Amino acid sequence: MTLWHGRLGGGTAPEVMAFSVSLPFDRALAAVDLEGSRAHVRGLGRAGILTDDEVATLVTAIARVEQELAEGSFAFAPDDEDIHTAVERRVTEIAGDVGAKLHTGRSRNDQVATDLRLYARGALGEIASAVIVLQEVLLNRAKEVGDAYLPGYTHLQRAQPVLLAHHLLAHGHALARDVDRLVSTLARLDVSPLGAGALAGSSLPLDPDAVAADLGFSSRFENSLDAVSDRDFAAEALFDLALLGVHLSRMGEEVVLWSTDEFGFARLDDAYATGSSMLPQKKNPDVGELARGKAGRLIGNLTSLLVTLKGLPLSYNRDLQEDKEPLFDSVEQVRLALAALAGLYATMTFDTHRMQDAADGPSVAAVDLAEWLVERGMPFRQAHGVVGGLVRDALERHVPLAELVAAHPSLGEEAVSLLEPGVAVTRRTTPGGAGPASVAAQLERFVHRLEADRVRIADAARVPVTEDGDVAVG
Ligand code: ARG
Repeated sequence: MTLWHGRLGGGTAPEVMAFSVSLPFDRALAAVDLEGSRAHVRGLGRAGILTDDEVATLVTAIARVEQELAEGSFAFAPDDEDIHTAVERRVTEIAGDVGAKLHTGRSRNDQVATDLRLYARGALGEIASAVIVLQEVLLNRAKEVGDAYLPGYTHLQRAQPVLLAHHLLAHGHALARDVDRLVSTLARLDVSPLGAGALAGSSLPLDPDAVAADLGFSSRFENSLDAVSDRDFAAEALFDLALLGVHLSRMGEEVVLWSTDEFGFARLDDAYATGSSMLPQKKNPDVGELARGKAGRLIGNLTSLLVTLKGLPLSYNRDLQEDKEPLFDSVEQVRLALAALAGLYATMTFDTHRMQDAADGPSVAAVDLAEWLVERGMPFRQAHGVVGGLVRDALERHVPLAELVAAHPSLGEEAVSLLEPGVAVTRRTTPGGAGPASVAAQLERFVHRLEADRVRIADAARVPVTEDGDVAVG
C-alpha cells in the first residue's frame, strides 16, 4: 500500500517504482531517521497529540526497529519506497494502531531534510577527525626527520633547499584549512528543519524549537519553504570534501613522484604498495594514484548536486532525492582515502641521503650568494645579475661554481662557504621559513593547532572528546 493510497487508486506502475525508489541508497539514513522520529514522537507528546502511553508505545517500537536494523534482521518490503516509508511501516506493524499517528504534522520533506543534516553532522565530524589523524602522521614524521632537507621545487625545478619537516607540514597546513572548512560547514548546518511539514508548517500545536533542541540542533528553521528546499549544507559538504580530496590528490601525486627511480626520495612499505600481474619486478604506488584519481569523482559529485539544485523552484521537488548518492559517495571515498594515506605516509621510508644530495647542488644556494652581496651593500637586482652570470658561466665552461665565486672580486672565499652542503637551508631564518629555527617554532604551533581543532570538531559535531583527546565520532 502506498502512502498516498487515499488519493491515487490502482497502485503505482512497476517502472515508476523502479525509477523512483531510493531505498537502495537512503538506508544509510536509517539510524538518523529513527533519531528524528523519536524526537518527533516526543514533540507530539508534549503537544498533547499523543498520550504518554502512545509516546511510550511508539518509542519502544522505534527502539525495536533500531535493534532489527543493527542486527540485520530488519525485513524490507517490496513496497518500501525509501527508508522513511520502511521505518514507518515497520513501526506501525510493531506498535499497532498508534503507528498511524507517527507521521502527524510531519512530511517526508521536513523529515528527509532533517535526516540528511543529522547524517552530515556525524559524517563531517568523523571526516574531520580522520583528517586530524592524517595530520598527526605528518606531524610525527616531521618530528622524526629532524633537520633532514631536500630540494624545494617551483615549476618542478629545484629551487631552494627546505627541511623535509617543512615540506611535510605544508600538507598539514592545507589539511588544517580543510578541518576549518568542515567545522564552519557544521556550524551552518546546525539548524533543524523538522516542523516545516511539507512546506508551510502545521495547524497543530507543534514546537519546532523544542524538537530542534531534542535533536541537538542550535536552532530551528526561520522559514518553512527554505527549510524543506535548502541543500546548501550538502553542497558545502561536497565542496569541502572535494577540496580535501584535491589536497589528498596532491599528496598522492607526491608519493608517486618520490617513489620513482628517478626521484628515489621514498620507498613504500610493501603493505601500502601493489605489484604487477605481469612484470615481476614492479612495486606500484597505487594508493597515491587512487588518491589522485578519486579527486575527479569528488569534484563530479559536487558538480552533480549543484546542477541538481540550479533552477529548482521552491520548495521541495523530487529532484532533491538526487542529493544523497553524491554526498554518501564523497563521504565514503574521502574516509577510505584518509585512512589509506595515513598508513602510506606513516610507513614510507625517506631516503634522506638522496634528498640531501639532490639539494646540495651548488646552484640551489644562488640566492644566498645574491643576498650575501645585498648585505654588503649591492642592490638586489645587480646582485641577481652577478650570480646569474656566474651560474651561466659555470654551466657553459664546465667550471665549478665555487671556483668562479672564489675568484670574483665582490665575492671571494668567504662567500664560497655558502655553497657548502647543508648551509643554505640553515639560512632560511624568517618566520614561517624553511630553516631549522623557523620550522621548530612552526612545529610547536602546529601541535597546539591540532589540540584546539580536536575540541572544535567535537563541539561542532556534538560529540564528546575522549580522555586521550580523540573525538568519539562514528
Ligand atoms: N526519498 C525522498 C527524498 O529523498 C523523500 C521525500 C519524498 N517526498 C515527496 N514529497 N515525495 O527526497
